[in-house]
Amino acid sequence: MRDVTMRYGSRTVVDSLLLSVKPREKVAIIGPSGSGKTTILRLAMGLERPSEGWIRIDGNYLWHVERNGALLPAGEQQARRARRAVGMVFQQFNLFPHMTAMQNVTEPLVHVLRLSKKDAHDRAADLLTRVGLATHLDHRPAQLSGGQQQRVAIARSLALRPKVMLFDEVTSALDPELVGEVLNVIRDLAHTTSMAMMIVTHEITFASDIADRVIMFDHGHVVEEGTPDVVLRNPQSPRTKQFLKAILER
Ligand SMILES: Nc1ncnc2c1ncn2[C@@H]1O[C@H](COP(=O)(O)OP(=O)(O)OP(=O)(O)O)[C@@H](O)[C@H]1O
Ligand SMILES: [Mg+2]
Repeated sequence: MRDVTMRYGSRTVVDSLLLSVKPREKVAIIGPSGSGKTTILRLAMGLERPSEGWIRIDGNYLWHVERNGALLPAGEQQARRARRAVGMVFQQFNLFPHMTAMQNVTEPLVHVLRLSKKDAHDRAADLLTRVGLATHLDHRPAQLSGGQQQRVAIARSLALRPKVMLFDEVTSALDPELVGEVLNVIRDLAHTTSMAMMIVTHEITFASDIADRVIMFDHGHVVEEGTPDVVLRNPQSPRTKQFLKAILER
């Protein structure tokens, strides 16, 4: 993202952001409520068009095309193409309530990727097994715990084989005893796959485990960034210190 600004009416929510994530890199984003963390992920996912600046994913601009060296605005079709490289998991699980875990994962494979039913089923079974749900393939969301539903949502995103995965506080709607199982799935993915990841989280130990880089965000700006050792254990900015203290006292 370069010079990315996002305004809602007269409010600037993201301000001239320069953010670059390398292939394979795992980036954790922390910061207070309302600081613009979700907005950054929604911009990276192509769900919102920035007021200014450009976003490029795996070589493709989200909202622009390059012609004779100039960057020209482009529409929804260009965004749709670039968006394919990105998967996102939200705080709310957003599963189809009338479909089983298996059907929730195969649905986009059949209707977006146009896989055969058999290939979609095989890929979904592999991924649901990977997130620990091999015995729950035929359960509907109402028959699954929040942690299990969130793992279905992760499997569904992974099934489209994105190059970048975005996680937005994916454990904050869960009962405390279910948080660990979901974090373990993401931790395992972070350590074993080549996907780049941007993870908004308030789980400080988890962020330390998985992140190559931590970004502290406040009021639409990067306040501080660096390795977990620096930002989480020895922060330089007073704002980061104050924020981490508040989290640890929660
Ligand atoms: N569609 C929208 N229209 C108007 N304002 C919005 C919109 N989406 C977000 N905002 C505002 O932008 C600011 C940043 O919101 P954002 O959801 O990115 O914060 P956040 O850091 O994810 O917060 P939280 O930790 O509570 O999830 C907030 O003040 C929010 O009210
Ligand atoms: Mg948010």
